Amino acid sequence: PRGASRGADGVVRLAGVPVTELAEQYGTPLFVIDEDDFRSRCRDMARAFGSPERVHYASKAFLSSEIARWVADEGLSMDVASGGELAVALHGGFPAERITMHGNNKSRAELREAVSAGVGHVVLDSMQEIDRLDAVAAELGVVQEVLIRITVGVEAHTHEFIATAHEDQKFGFSLSGGAALDAVRRVFETDNLRLVGLHSHIGSQIFDVDGFELAAHRVIGLLRRIVDEFGAAKTSQVNVIDLGGGLGISYLDSDDPPPVDDLAAKLANIVATESAAAGLPVPTLMVEPGRAIAGPGTVTLYEVGTIKDVRLDGNASRRYVSVDGGMSDNIRTALYQAEYDCRLVSRDSRAEPVVARVVGKHCESGDIVIRDTWLPDDVDAGDLLAVAATGAYCYSMSSRYNLLTRPAVVAVRDGKPRLVLRRETVADLLSLEVQEHD
Ligand code: LLP
Repeated sequence: PRGASRGADGVVRLAGVPVTELAEQYGTPLFVIDEDDFRSRCRDMARAFGSPERVHYASKAFLSSEIARWVADEGLSMDVASGGELAVALHGGFPAERITMHGNNKSRAELREAVSAGVGHVVLDSMQEIDRLDAVAAELGVVQEVLIRITVGVEAHTHEFIATAHEDQKFGFSLSGGAALDAVRRVFETDNLRLVGLHSHIGSQIFDVDGFELAAHRVIGLLRRIVDEFGAAKTSQVNVIDLGGGLGISYLDSDDPPPVDDLAAKLANIVATESAAAGLPVPTLMVEPGRAIAGPGTVTLYEVGTIKDVRLDGNASRRYVSVDGGMSDNIRTALYQAEYDCRLVSRDSRAEPVVARVVGKHCESGDIVIRDTWLPDDVDAGDLLAVAATGAYCYSMSSRYNLLTRPAVVAVRDGKPRLVLRRETVADLLSLEVQEHD
């Protein structure tokens, strides 16, 4: 986080709050969000892309009512991908007209909730959905603005499970074979849908502008074909191109993601050049960053428990440092071989750094938080470790595996902590159970 520093006593402060106090007050594991970091990334994005409402915070990265309030405050828009995300955003007072509803299999109920709440845009993902949404809008007596999600056939250089624009996957309408053009035709035939733009999302944790460039090129190519086929009058309102999310962040010191300003300038330039070349007016560029806003400013605090030096072949050994959470609060290492960095934050140590594997407390050997890291040789039970950049896709993908209760989430700002989500309790676990009848 931008507001992290180590005090003279060796204890790390987050926005001025000593981590030892946070651990004492709220327990561990604990997610600590540096609120100014989160908000300043919202502002950086808004500035880079020329206006806050063009930037949709992808709430799947992390959402609570409090986060919705921050994002609303900063003037950004929001991308939600389920009825649950929609409900929490609305509960936080997020203005519906700045919400875009996503999903490859939205239920009729979710569509109805979105349309009746008055969301700004729905992103259409299938032929069935076009008819379903048209019916819902007709029922509610409204005309709903929509975008169509295009699968542009770009191979994003990221993990297979988070790359989304190659042809052989479930999202969107394929460009090849004419599915995308058929979808546009179908939307034009409806009475209650109004097409305002095209959408593409090529994947996540991307460092390289090339994939976005190719996506923009292809989306604008499709826009040209749409104008040719349906005429300028009918298509004049189709003027948004949403290039989705995916901006990569640095998890390790060695990661080097492009600065947001550079990427935004390049994307704007590509869109301007491509549309000029296609003889089209320049469309409004929108984006949907999740990780790049929520990721960097949060750390997970863990308390160290058991330490084991395990003999490997020969003379080597590996140190296993167990912490009090694991794959239930961060599944990303197990799922994507994601890499993280951590520090001893409750005190200084001059001990020699040794290679260690940070593992959780779950009942499987894949329960690894950090595969290989360096920790001082004297790290011991009771020490606090902070894992960096855990703000995106950690809490939001958390589980209750082994019936661990979900950690609390705390925001820090100006030397003060504020609880955002309380820790789950055993009572929460039991609250889903149905009383037995005898
Ligand atoms: N827009 C759409 C349509 C998306 O599907 C996504 C992410 C985003 C925006 C935001 O992408 P971001 O800027 O956060 O990269 N669980 C995975 C990431 C999955 C991303 C899914 N879609 C992970 O932990 O890496």
